[in-house]
Amino acid sequence: MNTPVTEFTIEELADTIRKCQKCHLSRTRKMAVPGEGNPNSIVMFVGEAPGGDEDREGLPFIGRAGQLFTRILQSVQIDRKSVFITNIVKCRPPENRNPNKSEIDLCLPYLESQIALINPKIIVTLGSVPAKCLLNSEEAISRLRGKWFSWTGGIKIFPMFHPSYLLRHQETTPGSPKELTWRDIQELKRVLDTF
Ligand code: URA
Ligand code: URA
Repeated sequence: MNTPVTEFTIEELADTIRKCQKCHLSRTRKMAVPGEGNPNSIVMFVGEAPGGDEDREGLPFIGRAGQLFTRILQSVQIDRKSVFITNIVKCRPPENRNPNKSEIDLCLPYLESQIALINPKIIVTLGSVPAKCLLNSEEAISRLRGKWFSWTGGIKIFPMFHPSYLLRHQETTPGSPKELTWRDIQELKRVLDTF
């Protein structure tokens, strides 16, 4: 059983995020994207920030990269409804630029509250921004991905490439981003099956 350490529910937190005006991204967004999925999941997936499709719908990972991500999960029989999916920054940065440090710093308490409420065993970071932020590392994502890192509260962090990076690198030869991601998702599934 997870013991909630915060006095609000994941849905109440989502409502707070939808109304957030802590940073200037709130002035250019259409909708904030709190995240969605199973609040009792043992794994959380953390992307970078919403893109255009997510901004319009208020839901994470539903555009082209999101559809690829959903298929990656399905390839190892993970239903996306069974896990929790969110981003490090909850509002779309203009022109889909990477979120900057002040945007990340202001938004991070929301992710920390989600982690406290969900109490996952594993956090999978997607792409370089969430990996570097949570691991406080300057190491390249190509060196971080596919490795297990111990984090606060006994949580393990498992960095993977971002699905939009895979869309730009379609080759599947050994050592290519797609092939490495195929190995990573199977490693994740192997460990999930031990719980
Ligand atoms: N890319 C992300 O990092 N997150 C989304 O929700 C969509 C695209
Ligand atoms: N660069 C990124 O920002 N993300 C990836 O997943 C790979 C390269």
